[in-house]
Amino acid sequence: MGAPALMRRILIEACQLGLYIAAQLDLVISRKELQLTMPSFRTLDDLDLAGKRVLLRVDMNVPMRDGAVTDPARIEKIVPTITEILARGAGIVLASHFGRPKGEIVPEMSLAPLAKVLSGYLPDVAVNFSADGRYVPQPCEVVMLENLRFNAGEEGNDPAFAKNLAAHGDIYINDAFSCAHRAHASIDGVARLLPAAAGRLMQQELEALNDALENPAPPVAAIVGGNKISTKLGVLENLITKVDHLIVGGAMANTFLFAGGVSVGKSLCEEEMAETARAITAKAKDAGCEIHLPVDAVVAGALEAGVATETVAIDAVPEDQMILDVGPETAAAISKLLTNCKTLVWNGPLGAFEFKPFDQGTNAAAQAAAQLTQSGALLSVAGGGDTMAALANAGVTETFSYISSAGGAFLEWLEGKTLPGIAVLMEE
Ligand code: 3PG
Repeated sequence: MGAPALMRRILIEACQLGLYIAAQLDLVISRKELQLTMPSFRTLDDLDLAGKRVLLRVDMNVPMRDGAVTDPARIEKIVPTITEILARGAGIVLASHFGRPKGEIVPEMSLAPLAKVLSGYLPDVAVNFSADGRYVPQPCEVVMLENLRFNAGEEGNDPAFAKNLAAHGDIYINDAFSCAHRAHASIDGVARLLPAAAGRLMQQELEALNDALENPAPPVAAIVGGNKISTKLGVLENLITKVDHLIVGGAMANTFLFAGGVSVGKSLCEEEMAETARAITAKAKDAGCEIHLPVDAVVAGALEAGVATETVAIDAVPEDQMILDVGPETAAAISKLLTNCKTLVWNGPLGAFEFKPFDQGTNAAAQAAAQLTQSGALLSVAGGGDTMAALANAGVTETFSYISSAGGAFLEWLEGKTLPGIAVLMEE
């Protein structure tokens, strides 16, 4: 066991001893005060890499338009892991999926162009591409394999495919948190065949998530936005058991408002989910979590750029208008609430931020969180595809404590699910 792993073990045992003493003294320590779900995954620190071939799972599933990468965040974020492994004297075989070719060879989904893009971030390193996987990297060299999902064995977690993959390395490193919710061969199967550990990006991500929700400094607030309660039911159910304040925005707030008897005009609203919204509200109350809904709204007749808008109190939404953003009073109330919190988890925009001026509410709350983060008063962790874009639009990407580039994996983590790609990296 390496020094960091030993340190984690000592900390866990100290916590367990603390709980035992508390129990003897008849002290009640709440889950929110002391959580034992400390990360105990293996990292690069636990492995000797010199002279080895490292099979490195990354997520090169980046957005592209007309052959060009439109957001290179995922590529930029794996560079530190790659340079560290190379500096420690290993060669790297990079493995990733791209898109959803479903076991077919789809030339437009080849990783070859992305090997070239990656080499632009590693100026002094040879980045090769090997469609047949036969190229063996020398120490300090990188070779990228073809899209794993061209073979159905990847998504099927086929043992034979995992074995072939494992033959590319002496060590397996997973640096793709964004794929950790997939029990695929390159995430799960191969990690059982080779000494396995988290790369630096995965480590950073797991540590941030742990600090945000598993082991947070209270009071903890969560902002959940987006369109539908039905797609984030698991997230809401889990968060109300973990946070002190749940701030609901976006169109999903309309369903909560409707469930509480507020007329939401022609806003997007899942009327059939009203009962569920009431049940969540009741459960939140029992769990000691306060749900915060908008007190005012920016409304318009349609979701269009340049449309006439009006700001109204939440109980005065005209019948022919739709709620498209939280209003300034709500944004101010969120900002004020955050000044009393130590931890914030954020998923989903508060309004239809893609269309100005319906980004104002999200921007104001994001900027308040960013300022508190900058002053050291708040730990702010956010994630999810739309959230990344909304926070980038608010100009706070660099200021939040951590913004995850994961979509589905971040949501499943918010739901409290065990992610297969993480479970397999945990120490016995
Ligand atoms: C993502 O983009 O969220 C990951 O790359 C996972 O992709 P998938 O949803 O196709 O498995």
